[in-house]
Amino acid sequence: MRRHLLSAADLSLEDATLVLDTAEELAQVSERTVKKLPTLRGRTVVNLFFEDSTRTRTSFELAAKRLSADVINFSAKGSSVSKGETLKDTALTLEAMGSDAVVIRHSWSGAPANLARWIRGSVVNAGDGTHEHPTQALLDAFTMRKRLGRIEGLAVTIVGDVLHSRVARSNVLLLSTLGADVTLVAPPTLLPVGVETWPASVSYDLDAVLPKSDVVMMLRVQRERMGPSGEKATAYFPSSREYSRRYGLDVRRALALADDAIVMHPGPMVRGMEIAPEVADGVRSTIVEQVANGVSVRMAVLYLLLGGAAPAIGAPDVGFDLAPPAPLTPPAQGRATPA
Ligand code: CP
Repeated sequence: MRRHLLSAADLSLEDATLVLDTAEELAQVSERTVKKLPTLRGRTVVNLFFEDSTRTRTSFELAAKRLSADVINFSAKGSSVSKGETLKDTALTLEAMGSDAVVIRHSWSGAPANLARWIRGSVVNAGDGTHEHPTQALLDAFTMRKRLGRIEGLAVTIVGDVLHSRVARSNVLLLSTLGADVTLVAPPTLLPVGVETWPASVSYDLDAVLPKSDVVMMLRVQRERMGPSGEKATAYFPSSREYSRRYGLDVRRALALADDAIVMHPGPMVRGMEIAPEVADGVRSTIVEQVANGVSVRMAVLYLLLGGAAPAIGAPDVGFDLAPPAPLTPPAQGRATPA
């Protein structure tokens, strides 16, 4: 592993497989009575969140705690950011307190890449603007592999607001590395310029694609990125009802799926718009599993970035007699991280 995880494009097939295999091993910890390993004892992880989050922030916190790291949760609300403090000064302040890794979510695409240039510790991108959300892609891949036994050759259909979705971009990058065939389905207005260069096919016809899909991943329409209060949404589609009619996964559409196909959603979801409640709660849905798998995957990422030389499991459940983690691995030469 490198020192940072900024983009799903940073992960080779070997890297991604290592994260998924490690997550599988670490998932055993969640089934134990004492859900804790000493692996990152003495390390400090800062969760630096400038945008709202339910799943990502809590699962990174839980992941770090399960590995016995100290955790600082920083939220822009209530901090000196409101007094004009910059991201760089905020990060340097937290580093001065001894942080080894910073998990950052920011509305600015590229914020984690800049942070990686300013601080000495590891940086993990927990979602930057409309750019990337690599740990979401890893937990999605983990869920597919667990449910369907493989990723290579799977037909994965990603439906909805691709334009504003960092989840879609990271999934396309990671899934293509892992050998899946990805199709994006969206209104033309919700596809980014240059999508034809992505390693994915594009379709505007959800009904045609569904019967051939092993995985259907529904995306939320991100109104918060469509002007204040989402008022520019009508620039992208005529109405919620029309969007739902063309691109929503309702019960009728779900019946067109193959018997073993699964339905995913990264959350938060808008029930009734991109997905019907019956489908979200149905047997094909992996939405709750994805959240649980997020903890194991984020444990794997923190473990591999901060303590990868020590065994992930194999030490006692409690007690701290494991050798301390190896020093931080310096960034690999000649493998500069893309923004
Ligand atoms: N999937 C996801 O990033 O959810 P949160 O915004 O709740 O973290």
